[in-house]
Amino acid sequence: MRIVSGIQPTGNLHLGNYLGAIRQWVAMQNEAADQGAECLFFLADLHAITLFQTPQEMRDNVRGMAAALMAAGIDPAKSILFNQTRVPETTELTWLLMCVARIGWLNRMTQFKEKSGKNREGASAGLYTYPVLMAADVLLYNATHVPVGEDQKQHLELARDIAAKFNQDFGVELFTLPEPKIGATAARVMSLRDGTAKMSKSDPSDMARINLSDDDDTIAQKVKKAKSDAELLPATYAELAARPEARNLVGIYAALTDENPDAVCARFAGQGFGAFKPALAEVLVESLRPIRDRYNALRQDHAAIDAALEQGAIRARALAKPQLEAAQAAMGLFG
Ligand code: TYM
Repeated sequence: MRIVSGIQPTGNLHLGNYLGAIRQWVAMQNEAADQGAECLFFLADLHAITLFQTPQEMRDNVRGMAAALMAAGIDPAKSILFNQTRVPETTELTWLLMCVARIGWLNRMTQFKEKSGKNREGASAGLYTYPVLMAADVLLYNATHVPVGEDQKQHLELARDIAAKFNQDFGVELFTLPEPKIGATAARVMSLRDGTAKMSKSDPSDMARINLSDDDDTIAQKVKKAKSDAELLPATYAELAARPEARNLVGIYAALTDENPDAVCARFAGQGFGAFKPALAEVLVESLRPIRDRYNALRQDHAAIDAALEQGAIRARALAKPQLEAAQAAMGLFG
C-alpha cells in the first residue's frame, strides 16, 4: 500500500481541504504506520504556478501550508512531506506522460473549463496540462491510494487512463493504477454563502469559507452569517436533498463529530437554524482551535519547516529515481 496526495500551497488551508482531504491523510498516515505502508504528502507548488503567484507569496505559502499540514497531524517522522519542485523527477516524468496522454482526454477536464472560464486562450499552457503533472505525482511513486475530495476524481481517472495506456503501449506492468479515496461525508464541502458552489480558496468572499487560521469569534460570525433557510430540520438527511445550504451545514457538523448525518438530523429534527447554528459553531471552534494553536506555534519556525521538507525531498527522490529510469527504459530512452 502506498498513499500519495498533494495540496496546492495557495492561500490558507480551509475547511473543505481539511474535511475533504487532510483529515483522511492523517487517519491513513496513522493506520499505514501500523501496516508498514508508506505515505507521501506534498505541496503542489508546480500546480500553484499555473495561475500567477508572486515569488514572495510562493515562499510564504509553501512554508505556511507545510506548517498547516503538520498542525493538522501530518507527522514528518511518519510520512514523507515535501514540496514537488524538490523532486525534479516529477517534471521529467510529466514530459514522458504528456506524450502518452491524448489532447482529447485533456479537453474533457472540467476543472480547466472552470478555472479558465471565458479566458481560455489567455490561460497558461500549464493550467491546461496540469492533470498530466498530477498523474506524474502519483505514478512516480506507484500510489495505490490517493485520498482527495470529490473535485479531484476526474483528474485521477485520467491518471489511471495514462498509466494503462503507458503500460499497454510499451508492454510493461510499470505503473500501478491509483485508486481515489473519497470520504463518505464532506467529500465536497460547499461555500457558506452559496450551497451550490464549492468552498474554495479562490472565492472572493472570505465569509464563504472557514480558514484553519480563523479565530473563534470569526468562526462563530461566519456560521451565524452562513446562508441557510427558514425551514425546520427534518428527521433524515435525505430530506435535505433540495436544500443545499442546510444539507451542507448538517454535513459539516456530521463530518466534524464523526457521526452519520442521519443521526445529526434525528437529534435536531423539528428545530430551526437558530438552534442548529450555535451548536455547529461550537463544534467547529472546538475542533479547529487545537489545530490553529499548533499552527501558530509552528508557523514562525522556518528552520524546522525547511528541515522537514528537505528530509522529505531526499526520501521522495530515492523512491522517484528508479521509477523514472524504468519509465525511460520502457520507452527506449535509457539503459
Ligand atoms: P487543492 O489544493 O485544490 O485541494 C487539496 C485537497 O482538498 C480537497 N478539497 C476539497 N474537498 C472537499 N470540499 C471542498 N470544498 C474542497 N476543496 C478542496 C481537494 O479535493 C484536494 O484533495 N490538484 C490538486 C493537488 C494535487 C494532487 C496531486 C492531489 C496535485 N497533485 C496528486 C492528489 C494527487 C489540487 O489542486 O488540490
